[in-house]
Amino acid sequence: MKSWQAHPMTNLIDKRGAYVSFAKAFLLPSGRTTLAKRILMSERIIDFSKVSGRPVALQDQFQRQLRDLRISVMDRCNFRCPYCMPEDKYHKDFQFLNSDDRLSFSEIVRVARVFAGFGVRKLRITGGEPLLRANLPELIAELSALDAIDDVALTTNGILLAQHAAALKAAGLDRVTVSLDSLDDDVFRAMSGGRGSVSKVLEGIQEAELAGLHPVKVNSVVRRGINDSTVLELVDKFRGSGTIMRFIEYMDVGTINHWQPSDTVPARELVELINARWPISPAESNYFGEVASRYVFADGQGEIGFVTSVTEPFCGSCTRARISSDGNLYTCLFASAGTDLRTPLRAGASDAELADIVSAVWMKRDDRYSELRARNAAPADKVEMYYIGG
Ligand SMILES: C[S@@+](CC[C@H](N)C(=O)[O-])C[C@H]1O[C@@H](n2cnc3c(N)ncnc32)[C@H](O)[C@@H]1O
Ligand code: SF4
Repeated sequence: MKSWQAHPMTNLIDKRGAYVSFAKAFLLPSGRTTLAKRILMSERIIDFSKVSGRPVALQDQFQRQLRDLRISVMDRCNFRCPYCMPEDKYHKDFQFLNSDDRLSFSEIVRVARVFAGFGVRKLRITGGEPLLRANLPELIAELSALDAIDDVALTTNGILLAQHAAALKAAGLDRVTVSLDSLDDDVFRAMSGGRGSVSKVLEGIQEAELAGLHPVKVNSVVRRGINDSTVLELVDKFRGSGTIMRFIEYMDVGTINHWQPSDTVPARELVELINARWPISPAESNYFGEVASRYVFADGQGEIGFVTSVTEPFCGSCTRARISSDGNLYTCLFASAGTDLRTPLRAGASDAELADIVSAVWMKRDDRYSELRARNAAPADKVEMYYIGG
């Protein structure tokens, strides 16, 4: 669905999503949730409004439901990707948040529980670099133990993943997405601001696979003239391996990366390039609101994805909210302002009061930045991606 208008098939697709949850209850051994509880969590059986006392399906101004929450646990990063945290701005004297400014684990869990009360099932932990947050498995364990949550994923640059993958899996992490912009070390370092190495990220991916954080996805932002010449090498490396490669159009997130439209390589150009080497064809989305457009290899060697937010905006199916590491709620990756949840949290607000804030924000949500960008009508003032979480 590539339009911001409400999809007429939303209910049908939502039901399909519920069937998936139901099937998972039978298929997946779960160390954290009983089979019976998982079955009950299926939308077809339990009505979340009876749990939270609020409507299940919070809808915004364009009838988009709140379904996913991305939680930034760390504003710092050990990379300086020029498209996200350019070194000239994020230099050694840059003032990042103090530890006390960041939400504590118990505050994050409370926020997640409030969102779960509205039917949120999927959480993604991100940053900055989330693996820089000390004792992260403790947070993962608490989040994955929440009754309504059935999917906890993490996005990382992969540099610290090899040493943490097993503990994260043991704590209840379901899946991991690793960013890797090129297999060529020089190109990789041009994209990472001279930090890290390809071999270390590949080691992280391997350890994640071994730990069972399936399916591992690999994200690559493609910048014209910088790493577009190494795209086929990445495809070749991962096709047939079970790891899913996804190419992301370079976006105008934030204001400091000096994005120009000509820097973005449209996904359709990449589809043509890859198709000429290994024929691919479009595949159905796994669920409503899936970010990447899926393609499958004609020779049965798995799938590949494209995130087309610049050339084919998907605001119409965006069901995501985001929490910054200091507890601001954002309803769009390209938002210019958030809503402070930390102050009420620390002032002793009840879950019901927090839920009232969240529902008020979501119900008045009318963000559709990427659609407006396509019409040259988008606001210029935006938060940075490292801060809001990818
Ligand atoms: C902000 S990062 C946070 C998590 C982690 N540090 C990482 O790099 O995976 C999340 C994702 O956003 C992507 N990203 C950052 N800036 C971007 C931009 N301007 N356009 C497209 N994707 C971007 C990164 O490549 C990464 O895959
Ligand atoms: S994209 Fe990820 S790894 Fe790169 S600077 Fe941003 S937060 Fe760090």
